[in-house]
Amino acid sequence: MKHAHAFPAVSDPLTMASAYATGYRDSKKHLHPTAPLDDLRKAFGGDLPAKGQPGEQVIADLIQAAEPGLVGNTQPGFFAWVMGSSHTTGVAADWLTSIWGQNAGIYQCSPAAATAEEIACGWVLDILDLPREASVGITTGATMAGFIGLAAARDEVLRRTGHDFGQDGLQGAPRITVFISDDTHVSNLAALRYLGFGTRNIEPIPTDDQGRLVMRVLADRMALIRGPKIVVATAGHINSGAFDDFNALADLAAEHDAWLHIDAAFGLWARANPSTRAMTTGIERADSWSTDGHKWMQIPFDSGFAIVKNKDAHRRAMDISASYLSEAPEDGRNATHFNPELSRRARGFTVWATLRALGRDGISDMVGNHCNCASLLAYKLEGTQGIVIHNDVVLNQLVLSFDRGRGAQDSDQMTHAMAEALNADGQHFFRTTVWRGRKMLRVSIVSFDTGPQDIQLLARKMKSLWKEICG
Ligand SMILES: Cc1ncc(COP(=O)(O)O)c(C=O)c1O
Repeated sequence: MKHAHAFPAVSDPLTMASAYATGYRDSKKHLHPTAPLDDLRKAFGGDLPAKGQPGEQVIADLIQAAEPGLVGNTQPGFFAWVMGSSHTTGVAADWLTSIWGQNAGIYQCSPAAATAEEIACGWVLDILDLPREASVGITTGATMAGFIGLAAARDEVLRRTGHDFGQDGLQGAPRITVFISDDTHVSNLAALRYLGFGTRNIEPIPTDDQGRLVMRVLADRMALIRGPKIVVATAGHINSGAFDDFNALADLAAEHDAWLHIDAAFGLWARANPSTRAMTTGIERADSWSTDGHKWMQIPFDSGFAIVKNKDAHRRAMDISASYLSEAPEDGRNATHFNPELSRRARGFTVWATLRALGRDGISDMVGNHCNCASLLAYKLEGTQGIVIHNDVVLNQLVLSFDRGRGAQDSDQMTHAMAEALNADGQHFFRTTVWRGRKMLRVSIVSFDTGPQDIQLLARKMKSLWKEICG
């Protein structure tokens, strides 16, 4: 198997990896894995050698085994999922993170890691214009960020009833009801499960045609159910990109003394651009927010942010302390106050570096560019017979189906065929989803380099393929 980038004649694994890495992005032109699973298993497989191998040989073998199984989500033709493309400055910081080998658990393990994290968290609150007194945990992603926000919620809503979760756990606790959209991202249901909530503790609320909570039903259900309450809402629906009505939600939460958590894995960053910010109005009134760094912000995987307005609730839910981890008054940030981890990667370096490389204006422009690209694609496809856009294109997402007027089943087949056809030359990467019972093609525009010229090309390709396929 030939790798895309020639190895220089070097004799240490670091130089070798760095020389290869600098050419990788330019050489990766085929966005799909080219090797089937069996080949990958063979390439990675074999018994663990009894004796250690030379580092440069290990790295050469790794590249050779991995390359055919890599996905081009760092490329502008990648539209399958909301996945960022790991900004190169962030990647460089990530290399340093590994070279420095810091354990970012507590300040004393790495004052530099703790301080980079502290400053970067402040920047995140600034860009998102969320309450500056909120506390922030840098997580592996939005799933864990949601877990943290909901753990703080669980602790606080029980505390308000007089139940001390720290002492009594869930044993004998009043029953908490979680109100959540029937179209919520699955990660929220997973986080709730990890926290001891089963489906009977969850009140699913119907959504409208864009995936937004139907507020009237939510208000009625909240009025009917007694006891502590948590509401989970969405900024940036996974398919449509839609936003819930945050002011109405905050009013309702206040009326019921409920905790309001917002899953905003990518939608929260709409606040960074003046033309999309209005959709997030009122979001700052929530109690907690989960969002990703590795999606729209292009921070290398893995990176997410758990933001909690009530610092004490956040800390009560997450704190890890022990005598051998003694803290001194002059210490800075201890990540153990905000994250469910002790030893951890120094994730703050990549956050600090990527945000600094982008800058406030760069972040705003990037968000604006991706949203403009989504509108441009909608504009280019509108009026093409048989191409149906199912969402209001308000952010970076489009949900499409392909329909030649022969019923739902035929349309599902056509949509599948279009996804296959779009992927066939390896220049684009698409996946379908099932939404509202129908197969749809999701177009998520979030890769750093995707611009209007890529969208023009895509629209032309889509229209010409559809002409061929619809017969
Ligand atoms: C709306 C929403 N919430 C949560 C998540 C989970 O994020 P992560 O994969 O970073 O854990 C996603 C991921 O796609 C998402 O789109």
